[in-house]
Amino acid sequence: MQKQAHSSKVWFITGAARGIGLSLARQALACGDSVAATSRTLASLQQAFGKSSERLLALELDLVNEASVQIAIDKAIATFGRIDCLVNNAGYGQQGTIEALSDTELRHNFDVNVFAPLHVLRHALAHLRARRSGHVFNVASIVGFQGGYAGWGSYVASKFALAGLTETLAAELAELNIKATVVYPGPVRTGFLSKDTLVVAGRSIADYSEAQSSLDLHLNGLDGKQAGDPEKVAKLILQAASVPEPPVHLFAGKIANTLAEQKMQAVRQDLEAWRGASDATDFTEKRCWKRAN
Ligand SMILES: NC(=O)c1ccc[n+]([C@@H]2O[C@H](COP(=O)([O-])OP(=O)(O)OC[C@H]3O[C@@H](n4cnc5c(N)ncnc54)[C@H](OP(=O)(O)O)[C@@H]3O)[C@@H](O)[C@H]2O)c1
Repeated sequence: MQKQAHSSKVWFITGAARGIGLSLARQALACGDSVAATSRTLASLQQAFGKSSERLLALELDLVNEASVQIAIDKAIATFGRIDCLVNNAGYGQQGTIEALSDTELRHNFDVNVFAPLHVLRHALAHLRARRSGHVFNVASIVGFQGGYAGWGSYVASKFALAGLTETLAAELAELNIKATVVYPGPVRTGFLSKDTLVVAGRSIADYSEAQSSLDLHLNGLDGKQAGDPEKVAKLILQAASVPEPPVHLFAGKIANTLAEQKMQAVRQDLEAWRGASDATDFTEKRCWKRAN
């Protein structure tokens, strides 16, 4: 474990009025940092944070609207002078089998979970790049590493997309001294699975019984009983923000760690079992492909 150092930071955190985002914003404020906290409604930020403070900027924005995101980022920089840690945290779960999900359901889930973080990055990265410093945290989910959850294809795919773009971002930003971390929480006890937040597909197809059982379990068996503590997940993010060499992949919780190990083993098994046949698909002349750098 690397040594931690705390110098005051400026955070931009989406979806900071509740759940993991709120815990992170509160802990950052308690450390003496400044926070630009976003939500779809100012009232929920006011309710979450109570009295205003010089180190808190509450921003109402529609993450799906790029112009609204740009205004929020510009306000954060005008207020605090910079952004050090950018946290794409806002997101929601969309249930439904791949066959049953409508185009509108899928696209909206991707708008919030993938294209909104891209809006934030598109407008904030120029500032981080100019200063040659900063740290981007994209909050994905362990399902975006493990995959294979019947009935959750939209959410899973959106989190895989967020993870994939974070890995690429880490490669692009390395020379600019900017870090990128994808956070993979396991189940965390927030309002994420509540009936008000989780979006259930408008259509269900009775043949997909495993997907229905999974939905029933998540709505009636897991909500409120998740193993992860949002305060501790937030603390882990703060810890990763404070070390000189943060991880690109940050798993949060025992369940996330176990599922990640299972996934890596399963991929290794497939790789080994098909290695010979797979290698044989190359042309036979001398290899000229080489990984850049
Ligand atoms: N809880 C878990 O088990 C778990 C596990 C793995 C990953 N995650 C991820 O962790 C992140 C935070 O989730 P959480 O557990 O803290 O859940 P949460 O308590 O439901 O908070 C979700 C946040 O995302 C924002 N959000 C939700 N739907 C939105 C929409 N349609 N448009 C814009 N913003 C929206 C909300 O902002 P508003 O204030 O605008 O409502 C809210 O602050 C999410 O990306 C989630 O996918 C959660």
